[in-house]
Amino acid sequence: LRVVILAGGLSHERDVSLRSGRRVADALRASGAEVTVHDVDADLVPALRETAPDIVWPLLHGASGEDGSVRDVLELLGMPCLGTGPRASRIAWSKPIAKTVVAREGINTPEFATLPQSLFRELGASRVLDAIVEKLGLPLVVKPATGGSALGVTLVRDAADLPRAMVDCFAYGDTALIERAISGTEVAVSVIDVGAGPEPLPAVEIVTDGAYDYDARYNPGRTEYFTPARLSPEVAERAGQVAVAAHRALGLQHLSRTDLIIGDDGVVYFLEVNVAPGMTETSLFPQAAEAAGYELSTLYRALAEAARR
Ligand code: DAL
Ligand code: MG
Repeated sequence: LRVVILAGGLSHERDVSLRSGRRVADALRASGAEVTVHDVDADLVPALRETAPDIVWPLLHGASGEDGSVRDVLELLGMPCLGTGPRASRIAWSKPIAKTVVAREGINTPEFATLPQSLFRELGASRVLDAIVEKLGLPLVVKPATGGSALGVTLVRDAADLPRAMVDCFAYGDTALIERAISGTEVAVSVIDVGAGPEPLPAVEIVTDGAYDYDARYNPGRTEYFTPARLSPEVAERAGQVAVAAHRALGLQHLSRTDLIIGDDGVVYFLEVNVAPGMTETSLFPQAAEAAGYELSTLYRALAEAARR
């Protein structure tokens, strides 16, 4: 089996993607596959033509990977790919659009507003932010409408901190998603489909002493993980159902990871979905797979074989 992994690229999550790429490449090689990791640049098309792999696995985090644009190129080339196709990637990549799609399926998601930077400037910060606080209350989470690894994300408890949060957010994208903050337990549920339909892996519970920010995600020791999450059997089952329902509703393929908050009231809230979940040493998908009893090399190989068919 010849696999080309696409990693790196130009997004803010370039380094994370290179780490994911290396880890998945090592695991696939252990399964006997022939693996090339290609750092995505202008040579992508000639390199793929020359290698003529059986399967391309885009492990690109952030824009041009998760937003579907590289997938469009691969589709034009007729390359068999592992993961979600270009159109579904585009929808999943936009947090407000993904939230709207899953809400239509009866899945709970925190109430939100979106705010383009142009409107923010035009109407004046204080006027817009006052209206948002009036509508959604406090605390709020401000995040780029598209993005990953918590870059540009701020939990705002005090309205006085909102303008600063908006500036941080707009550094990473031109539209903000402002969401009511739900008090509860942060969990992530990965979904795999090796050909028999999507199935959830055990939920991973995330416990940090502060925010689950970029540093807490990628510096070992900053975050404590519990897999399976310490949830009642009913809530754990519901979390799995929500992740599978989101995977199906958004038309995702082969693998995904849905990030959730289990509210203190036991309600499962959808936050977002990832079509290229992190695969680094500290990432959630591999932790969930190992907790479910999978050898990563066997699982990644099975995903590649399933995508090839
Ligand atoms: N965006 C990072 C890679 C993740 O969701 O794991
Ligand atoms: Mg994400």
